[in-house]
Amino acid sequence: MTFDPASLLSPRASTADEGAIIRMSQRTRELKAKGRDVVALTIGEPDFDTPLNIRDAAKTALDKGLTHYSPVAGMPELREAIAAKLKDENGLAYPASSIVVANGAKQAINNAILSVIGPGDEVIILAPYWLSYEASVRFAGGTPVILTAGVHEGYKVPASRIAAAVTERSKLLIINSPSNPTGALWTRAELEDVAAVVRNHPRLMVLSDEIYEYIIFEGEMTSFGALPDMLERTITLNGFSKGFAMTGWRLGFSAAAEPIAKAMARMQSVISAGANQFVQYAAVAALKGPRDEVVAMREAYRHRRDLVLAGLRRIKGLTIADIPGTFYAFPDVSAFIGRKAGNRAILSSDELCDWLLEEHGVATVPGSAFGAPNSIRLSFATSEKEIEKALTRLSEGLSSLL
Ligand SMILES: Cc1ncc(COP(=O)(O)O)c(C=O)c1O
Repeated sequence: MTFDPASLLSPRASTADEGAIIRMSQRTRELKAKGRDVVALTIGEPDFDTPLNIRDAAKTALDKGLTHYSPVAGMPELREAIAAKLKDENGLAYPASSIVVANGAKQAINNAILSVIGPGDEVIILAPYWLSYEASVRFAGGTPVILTAGVHEGYKVPASRIAAAVTERSKLLIINSPSNPTGALWTRAELEDVAAVVRNHPRLMVLSDEIYEYIIFEGEMTSFGALPDMLERTITLNGFSKGFAMTGWRLGFSAAAEPIAKAMARMQSVISAGANQFVQYAAVAALKGPRDEVVAMREAYRHRRDLVLAGLRRIKGLTIADIPGTFYAFPDVSAFIGRKAGNRAILSSDELCDWLLEEHGVATVPGSAFGAPNSIRLSFATSEKEIEKALTRLSEGLSSLL
């Protein structure tokens, strides 16, 4: 008998899918390696360098020898700085002991889901959604319950539909505002309607992912936990990757009621332990230092957002909602599905993305990866020159299908 390593994989291993974004990025790299000119609008990553004051703080910390294990929940200085930020900017009065610093917001999400979700528990996820939520819920053995809003609803599921989906097994509702992949921003009034639903269900909590809060062009950030009675009911999640252009530093955080925060730290101690020490000192500088570069990056995204919206609105057949935040556009491409490109039938947004990549040199991500198969995601965290090129190619390609 031969040894078959694949036969040893656990059932959990099959729940961990690498995801369409990574797949599309990989295909883009392969085509580029073959010399093809491809504009990549796939990755949700700022194209800016981390602001200088943050890099300097990391260097200083390194030179001071701050390269050791840190407490699992984070360095006290950073937890204090995060508690102050949440209080001053978000109206959230969590004590520092409720804060858990994680190795990226992604880990904070997993800490949260693993802490409260087990087999049989339902998690309400509002589609279009960031694909990791569903993967994390499955990983924890929970059941994702997906509710979908279309482009004409501004991609926001109304509270009445959420109310109708709550069962006695519902434990968590995930809200991501501003949203990846749609750029939608929930208003205070919309969130108040959701809070009214949560208030009726004493076992239901909310995971509020606020990682794009510094990339808002119109409207105000409302933190779900700041609504009346919602602080204890909310696990607030945030991180440094997007607003401070710190994706590779891997630093995120959560704030939650103390028993949950403690469980989250325990989860993290099993999986990875405390975050990198000198990075935590850089994060203190990020929170306490000047924000002009953060604002300058937001303004650059705003300009690109205007370009992208204007360009996409000129393409016949695309339906696109406003983009009040983030660096994503999420046009509905239903009009192109079922069309033919020569002999090639385009039967899904996956096939549309493959065709756009192979025949027109633009890499996007199919909406199926976000629970929204009629749309595609374009990241505009890239230069205006690349954006212009992509818009020309999209326009030529898509027009030829109609
Ligand atoms: C909505 C959302 N939450 C969380 C994350 C994870 O961020 P981090 O880099 O801190 O793990 C991302 C990254 O793409 C995201 O889009």
